[in-house]
Amino acid sequence: MQPKLVEVPEALPEKIYSTERVGISRATHDAHLGLWKGYANKTNEIRTKLAELDVDPAKANQIFSDIRALKVNYAFAYGGYMNHQVYFNSIGGAGGEPTGDIEALIKEAYGSFGRWADDWKATGMGARGWAFLAYDHIEQRVHTYIGDSQDTFPAWNHTLLLGMDVYEHAYFLDFQAARMKYINAYMEVIDWDAVSARLPR
Ligand SMILES: [Fe+2]
Repeated sequence: MQPKLVEVPEALPEKIYSTERVGISRATHDAHLGLWKGYANKTNEIRTKLAELDVDPAKANQIFSDIRALKVNYAFAYGGYMNHQVYFNSIGGAGGEPTGDIEALIKEAYGSFGRWADDWKATGMGARGWAFLAYDHIEQRVHTYIGDSQDTFPAWNHTLLLGMDVYEHAYFLDFQAARMKYINAYMEVIDWDAVSARLPR
């Protein structure tokens, strides 16, 4: 069985480095790209091991077993890969307020962009890893979520629209421990066109 493998670009698109205007540095992004590649490499390593695994239900065990170790860590690896894909795809923009369908969805769910922005900042401050904005296909509304780890996702039947990395590696080099300064800078570089492109059509 041949596993399908994921890829990370060798270099980030140049637009991402426009975040230097708000203090999120090239050095931070370049180090962060290395972490993203690490999630991709481990995703591929686990997929390969799962494809080669001699699966025996009698050996599966909830305390420790090969199948458990591979599957639990797979969710962390692939989650980290996907979270960073959305992160890097959603920065390097003009920030500010969105327009079009995403604006309408945010206003429907939060009343105003300002109310959503306050919620987003608070979600980022309250999270141990990620703030997520996701589209709920069942209720056809957007909602923000806290992700405390790479494998804590929004609920089922959601599409991830925007992911703000609040692990310290995303900001410590530029803002030390002042996470709110990073979040305020991040708000100024959201690429809302990229967010809109992820909305279901
Ligand atoms: Fe990260």
